[in-house]
Amino acid sequence: MKNLLTMTDLTKDDIMKIITKAQDIKENGAETFGKGMTVANLFFENSTRTKCSFEMAERKLGLEVIPFEISTSSVQKGESLYDTCKTLESIGVDALVIRHSENAYYDTLQGLNIPVLNGGDGSGHHPTQSLLDIMTIYEEYGYFEGLKILISGDIKNSRVARSNADALTKLGAEVMFSAPEQWKCNFSDVPYVEIDDVIEEVDVCMLLRVQNERHDSGTTFSKEDYHNAYGLTIDRYNKLHDNAIVMHPAPVNRGVEIDTSLVESSKSRIFKQMENGVFIRMACIHDVLNHKEEKVKCHL
Ligand code: CP
Repeated sequence: MKNLLTMTDLTKDDIMKIITKAQDIKENGAETFGKGMTVANLFFENSTRTKCSFEMAERKLGLEVIPFEISTSSVQKGESLYDTCKTLESIGVDALVIRHSENAYYDTLQGLNIPVLNGGDGSGHHPTQSLLDIMTIYEEYGYFEGLKILISGDIKNSRVARSNADALTKLGAEVMFSAPEQWKCNFSDVPYVEIDDVIEEVDVCMLLRVQNERHDSGTTFSKEDYHNAYGLTIDRYNKLHDNAIVMHPAPVNRGVEIDTSLVESSKSRIFKQMENGVFIRMACIHDVLNHKEEKVKCHL
């Protein structure tokens, strides 16, 4: 693939190819790139998992990582995203990982000749999060067809919900949303359900972070009210079937989306998701850089 921007761009086969590659890397390691291949990670929004796990993936693949901090860059002098990226391309960077608060920021980067991996765009898409979620579910069940997957929480503001609903539906899973009225958004055909009506039958219970930074002050709940109405309480956890798993993209608001004692419970795969994130990102970087190398060879 040339870039990794959205899950919508990927076919079922593309997704499974990346998952298989990530599983192979997890079991057998990966080929590293030759000396001098360089990447830069541009994070215009805060991140711990995505930024650090991309950097871990890059280092494991033998790539040089150009240190780039928005706060000390010429972005502060008003340089545009396109000019910033074009500058990094000009000085020899081979690929960019970008997280930005603007939905579809990548539409402004059509003139770039190096691959872009989307680390999250506003409330738009978060493809590597979706791929690591899919890998974690696949490790558990080995299939997607007919799996009942509940995604509960701040659907409207969640790029994770958007990417996962799209991809998991494509893979044959039965995706359901649960959300307060003001955080519902009909960006797909996924039905809305009440969490208590389905908790006993779901195979995957995925909680979403309440994105306070994207809300008006009028749309917030008390932590306790939200937890009791939409969160994974101990009572709901006890109703999950024996093989059901609990997921959350994190960071977790403990005691809000999920009871703090459940974050590391036996059904929780929250830290497994983060572990898998490194292998998924290694697989994606391999794919875009190999595509780029092939293109360069074709032009020789
Ligand atoms: N899940 C996720 O994207 O976490 P970060 O915001 O810490 O990268």
